[in-house]
Amino acid sequence: MQSELEEKRKMLAKLEKVPQPEFEGVSYPSFSPFRKKEAKNVIEDIMNVKSRDSDIIICTYAKSGTHWTYEIVNMLLRNTTELDNKSKMQSMLEAVEDLSVLEGVPSPRIMDTHCLFKYLPKQHKQKKVKIVHMIRNPKDVCVSYYYHCLKDVMINFDGTWEEFFELFMSGKLPYGSWYNYELEMERAANDFPETIFTCYYEDMKKDPVREIKKLADFLGTPCSDDTLEKIAKETSFGNMQKNKFDITVIVDGKGFIYRKGEIGDWKNHFTVAQNEKFDAQYKEEMKDSKYKITFE
Ligand code: A3P
Repeated sequence: MQSELEEKRKMLAKLEKVPQPEFEGVSYPSFSPFRKKEAKNVIEDIMNVKSRDSDIIICTYAKSGTHWTYEIVNMLLRNTTELDNKSKMQSMLEAVEDLSVLEGVPSPRIMDTHCLFKYLPKQHKQKKVKIVHMIRNPKDVCVSYYYHCLKDVMINFDGTWEEFFELFMSGKLPYGSWYNYELEMERAANDFPETIFTCYYEDMKKDPVREIKKLADFLGTPCSDDTLEKIAKETSFGNMQKNKFDITVIVDGKGFIYRKGEIGDWKNHFTVAQNEKFDAQYKEEMKDSKYKITFE
């Protein structure tokens, strides 16, 4: 842990420090659009993106398996079983420096974002275009986010696990509260059931072929059992960790997205007291939710 912090401090020293951007009480990583414009304008630009009927937006809370979902959706839409040489960061709405570049991207376009549903492109919602939403159990999200924040120079965090846990619990991390994000998405999915498809990280991990098939049905890209098997294999954690080149998240020659890719790593980090505190908050916040989230 000490060496990870040291490494981040060295990287930070090389970069110009900017305060964490904020809009409507939620902070964001200081991606280049936020370094150039106020957060309000970055969000407005996202809301004004011109949508096409064939667009797909991958919507996730941070660390819920966005890279993984991107790769699967990309294979289904492009009818291939090979990893893409592009990174999902290149289509991440809040990180793309000039959103007009999207106009030159051939259809069907895949975009992704961790921003709240209410900030998605207005036209996308009006046209009822498809959204793929992946959800992951928030204990593993919290652990995964902790390691991410230790390394990501766009995020001003260099504290302890205990401090990070409290920030997660109080919804003060970039992109705000996990509960706020996921409950808003659940309400949206109830309002637009044909438009929003929710997949669970844990289900995808346990039975990728079955889950990729459901996704293919939603996207209207049916494929053979053999293709489903190939996609599952190619997008497995081990293969992506080894062969996926995500240029935009490589710092000092090392990528940090493909860390462990497991269910239940929270058990190696949460103390008994933290777990009890988390469970009590989860029970209260999720009391009206129909999500079927599994923690192991
Ligand atoms: P861990 O930190 O627990 O390993 P995101 O893409 O939203 O940033 O999410 C990153 C998390 O998804 C990381 O979790 C990463 O390892 C995991 N992940 C990425 N690709 C995966 C895959 N093919 N299978 C399972 N998990 C994957």
